[in-house]
Amino acid sequence: DDRATFIAALPKAELHLHIEGSLEPELMFELAQRNNVAIPFANVEEVRAAYAFSNLQDFLDIYYQGMGVLHTEQDFFDLTTAYLARAHADAVRHVEIFFDPQGHTERGIAFATVVLGISRALDDALARYGITSKLIMCFLRHLSEAEADATLDEALPYLGRIDGVGLDSSEVGHPPSKFERVFARARSLDLKIVAHAGEEGPPAYVYEALDLLKVDRIDHGNRSLEDPALVARLAAAGMTLTVCPLSNLKLCVVDDMAAHPLKIMLSARLHATVNSDDPSYFGGYVNANYQAVADALDLSKAELLTLARNSFTGSFLDDAAKAKQL
Ligand code: ADE
Ligand code: ZN
Repeated sequence: DDRATFIAALPKAELHLHIEGSLEPELMFELAQRNNVAIPFANVEEVRAAYAFSNLQDFLDIYYQGMGVLHTEQDFFDLTTAYLARAHADAVRHVEIFFDPQGHTERGIAFATVVLGISRALDDALARYGITSKLIMCFLRHLSEAEADATLDEALPYLGRIDGVGLDSSEVGHPPSKFERVFARARSLDLKIVAHAGEEGPPAYVYEALDLLKVDRIDHGNRSLEDPALVARLAAAGMTLTVCPLSNLKLCVVDDMAAHPLKIMLSARLHATVNSDDPSYFGGYVNANYQAVADALDLSKAELLTLARNSFTGSFLDDAAKAKQL
């Protein structure tokens, strides 16, 4: 229909995408075979059937298991190339990709293998599609700050290809304050700063992300809406929220897409964007996320355009590159 056509053609940036969460079951099987890794599924249908989650941790358990098939630089290249082809099909012009190095280094995969495979695919996508990109290294918050610090050490030779650091994995019980020092060090290295906050965790975690980590963006941020003073502060600061509608539905952050807070966020003048988070696990790439939330909340073309514009203004592109996209 008309709305689908509008969404499909809308130039957009994707700002919240875990590259390991774009691993489709077909590629999982191919890589399992290529690398001789056993996986506990007989076929692609069984994999998809296992993707029924009641919370974030349910998902994370299967997400860390899934990434176990990634071994070589070529695997990371193939994974990233497949995502970029899908992004291009969705009129994505700019991507800011998260990766979880600790999910790989703890399995004995070299940091270099991961970064070089991903970044070679990003270079290709610029040449092939004109898609620009930033790369954001996330620390796993269920691990210690010392382990995050060691990961930042490993990243030092690659800071020419890494634009920012983020914070992901199990949120509740692992507040931003746990990582205050390593983020201060990342800031001193001129890295951009983001953090998942307010996905399952309380508004206090969003305050900590702002005040202690000094984030440039908040990933998710849904539970900020419980605190009017926080909403006012985020709006006044022009803070971008990277919202992920299908993720929120699959992880039971919302009970129903009709109950999704995106429209309330826009009404409150929050700089919300729409993103796919882990599209293979949550059932849709970025356009499917726009479509699902637009249908459920009856978003207007003006609102959809605002969301897409927010994705560029909230990106880490420089002002000249933003101006070209807007
Ligand atoms: N890792 C991958 N996706 C995530 C999410 N939505 N929240 C926290 N950690 C994640
Ligand atoms: Zn995420």
